[in-house]
Amino acid sequence: MVMSASPLLVTCGLPYTNGPCHLGHLRTYVPADFYVRYMRRSGEDVVFICGSDNHGTPVVVSAEEKKISPRVLCEQYHHHFKKTFERMDVRFDHFGMTDDPTNHKRTQAIVRRLIENGHVYSQIIKQAFCPQCNRFLPDRYLEGTCPHCHKPARGDECDQGCGKHLEPGEIQDPTCTICGTRAEFREQEHFFFRLSAFDTFLDSFLSGLQGTENARNYARGWVKEGLHDWCITRTLEWGVSFPGHDDLVVYVWVDAPTGYIAFTEEWAEKNGRDWRDLWCPETSRVTHFIGGDITYHHCVFWPALLQGAGYHPPHAVVASGMLKIDDHKFSKSRGYVVWTNEDYLDRGLPSDYLRYYLLAYTSHTKELNFSWRLFQERINNEVVNTLGNFVYRTLHFAYKEFGGVPEGLVSTDIIETIRACIRDVDTAVTAYEFKAAVDIVIKLAAYGNNYIQTRAPWKQIKDDREEAEQTILDCLQIAQALAILTEPVMPVSAQAIWTMIGNRENLAGVSFSYADQPIQARKFDKPAIIFVKLEDDLIGNLEKELEERIQMLNKESCNSSLVSIEDFAKIELKTGRVIAAEPIPKSKKLLRLQVDLGCETRQIVSGIAKWYTPDELIGTDVIVIANLQPATLCGVESRGMVLAAGEEASLLIPKKSVPPGTKIL
Ligand code: 2FM
Ligand code: ZN
Repeated sequence: MVMSASPLLVTCGLPYTNGPCHLGHLRTYVPADFYVRYMRRSGEDVVFICGSDNHGTPVVVSAEEKKISPRVLCEQYHHHFKKTFERMDVRFDHFGMTDDPTNHKRTQAIVRRLIENGHVYSQIIKQAFCPQCNRFLPDRYLEGTCPHCHKPARGDECDQGCGKHLEPGEIQDPTCTICGTRAEFREQEHFFFRLSAFDTFLDSFLSGLQGTENARNYARGWVKEGLHDWCITRTLEWGVSFPGHDDLVVYVWVDAPTGYIAFTEEWAEKNGRDWRDLWCPETSRVTHFIGGDITYHHCVFWPALLQGAGYHPPHAVVASGMLKIDDHKFSKSRGYVVWTNEDYLDRGLPSDYLRYYLLAYTSHTKELNFSWRLFQERINNEVVNTLGNFVYRTLHFAYKEFGGVPEGLVSTDIIETIRACIRDVDTAVTAYEFKAAVDIVIKLAAYGNNYIQTRAPWKQIKDDREEAEQTILDCLQIAQALAILTEPVMPVSAQAIWTMIGNRENLAGVSFSYADQPIQARKFDKPAIIFVKLEDDLIGNLEKELEERIQMLNKESCNSSLVSIEDFAKIELKTGRVIAAEPIPKSKKLLRLQVDLGCETRQIVSGIAKWYTPDELIGTDVIVIANLQPATLCGVESRGMVLAAGEEASLLIPKKSVPPGTKIL
């Protein structure tokens, strides 16, 4: 890794203060903490910043449900997250709140600069309004259907379908989340950020952006598709006031990322540093770790905001892949969730094991599946049997026969093996390939295990004490290197190994270059077992609890609200025969179907491209909602909807053959 003179600022996406910490959060924070620890140990000056995201409708809607003020809710969850991160050994240098005065000031300063620089304009728009609650319905106060993919969506994002950001007024069939009343539209003045004017800047910014490929590639695609201006004001009482308009607050996606700057200011103030050194010079290296679902905000919207307000755009964006629980899409409402405290830490399970799993399961950008069984397998095989076994065997033998690290010269090939390992780990981390880095370290432990097994010092000692001494010295050198190299992954266990080998100073201050320095002779105490197996009983219980939670919630969701027969009769369901099907350029998900409905042929766009080829669909009888309002998807008109079940879009088809256009009664 080529070291840089300028400090590195690492940030993590800010958690909303509307619910507890779960594995989905940790998927981003643990790798970020790993990266920070790694870079520090490589000699970099790193500042690690995060905080809680207090504004926006996710928080106000929750506070309203709980009948407490948003500030009280935010403080509760702010402390919850701060404590949980500490328990997971994710150590931020500062963890701020977006509702604190520093952020109000910085956000208003940025908005004023955007206005002065001509990047903001006002427009009268139609805003959703609830006649029952007598108020405007921004973002999560609104539910409806995504105009792009027809899945259920929130007011400002299609959270269950295509993931697109939705501008006020875009959502279809909008209803109020609080009382369920159909929304009306009223005119109101709002302010827009001229994002569309930043396409040339973003093109060149993205070509130089460091970090993971997924972030860059998605963002490039969006810029190519064309950018829309973003409405940056909301009619809410909770948030940062929009300068000059006390009835409006700034959209949460403006003040949340600005928190990264404000929290750096707060940290700098406390530590006698200047925040500008981290944000302003050309050489500044702001690296954002984020969940892949907020790539648009960090790779398109935020850099444009910074550029428009005269700040330096980010250096790197590292976006993590999604999380699945037992191969199901992560979902709190359906029970596919693992809560960090309740389900894990409060059971006495070590933070190090979960950190290991999150880092080693798969590449950072890929989908990570968590199941208790897989967790048990990986920990027992890799951490306990490979790493733990090697370290314990080595230390135990060294203590028993030599009382610690014996005198002598470590074999050159051992030093070389460690050097090669350090080099390979470095290449992997430089490429943000954290899994590869962890695998290389575990491979070194496996090498050590093989070394001690084939040399068998317990046999060597019977005939040749010196030979046994050499073997164990080599193994101790590997164990010491492993303590240093595993610290970014499992800091608690690494420190324990380090201390057990008889090192007095704290492992935190030791650099990677120490790993290949010959280990010095010293005495140490009787070693303890550090890594304990995860037993079947414990895992079985945890699995059972998860299953029960899923079943209970799914039962609840079966008791869905009732509709009258009159309402149901309004939906016209018919059978139709697919007579033509073709892909839609620019879309991986959609197919354009021509469906024979007996009296007419309908063009229907359906999001089933991932599951069916056009050829296999031709001649298939499907069920169609025939009286759905037309919609345009990816520029193609769709007049109806084909019914399909489940995540893999299993098409509903009539059991007996019926002529196209048969009514479903
Ligand atoms: O999506 C979220 O959970 C947001 N709270 C992330 C904000 S990150 C940043 F921009 F502040
Ligand atoms: Zn959608």
